[in-house]
Amino acid sequence: MKPRKKIRKIGVFDSGAGGLSVVKSLLEANLFEQIVYFGDTARVPYGIKDKNTIIRYALEALEFFKNFDIDLLITACNTVSAHALPEMQEQCEYDIIGVVEPGVEALTQKVAFKDDPILIIGTNATIGSNAYQSKLQALGYRNLTAIPTGLFVSLVEEQLFEGPILEETMKHYFGDMQPSAVVLGCTHFPLIRDRIESYFNNSVCSIHSGDAIVEHLRTKYSITGPAAQTRLELFASENPDGLKNIAKLWLGDLYDSSTC
Ligand code: DGL
Repeated sequence: MKPRKKIRKIGVFDSGAGGLSVVKSLLEANLFEQIVYFGDTARVPYGIKDKNTIIRYALEALEFFKNFDIDLLITACNTVSAHALPEMQEQCEYDIIGVVEPGVEALTQKVAFKDDPILIIGTNATIGSNAYQSKLQALGYRNLTAIPTGLFVSLVEEQLFEGPILEETMKHYFGDMQPSAVVLGCTHFPLIRDRIESYFNNSVCSIHSGDAIVEHLRTKYSITGPAAQTRLELFASENPDGLKNIAKLWLGDLYDSSTC
């Protein structure tokens, strides 16, 4: 961790719009004065790309944030967090936090028994990186199943948050699994969290990157938040109006109160 100055203005980076699920948790917690969001909408999805490409894109995103004098960067994208964090951190004076470590911390708070079945879902690149699996194994969790569930990304992009296609896709991926906990290892999956929990008869605990990041900021960074309302600025490498429309839909009232 690098020397601290008061963290008022942060950046949030994602491969596209999905990181808004993390922004939602940050706005609800009202921890910062300002959030600058950059979604690389011109090049999403990252989850099907190889490690070198993901690192290159992530380093290019840092160039964008050079214009904003941020105090901290949150990489909301699980794919980037799993593959490019050390390379990004080398380039920056400020701290960069990914979502994998906070997700693992959140899981340890919720699952006490190391034999409990844990399901990890994410993009091809996230699951292929072994990032969640190796950290959980190092903590003694023995009963891990990790599956790439990239079709969920497309369904969420199509706003198919419920319905027969989603149900069939869950059946295809999950079959008759009955995990105790599911790590939602992708920015898009919180949008279908209710359906995933319901597929597992609401007897599963799900780990949401946004909530995990907020907890991490509170416990590891002792950030409790400003009195004022967080201001949100949204930027995209392509079609920023499309990103703003998704933000209105996903963030609801939080969008109006943080952008006016
Ligand atoms: N943001 C990505 C993640 O959380 C999902 C979308 C993509 O493949 O770029 O892994």
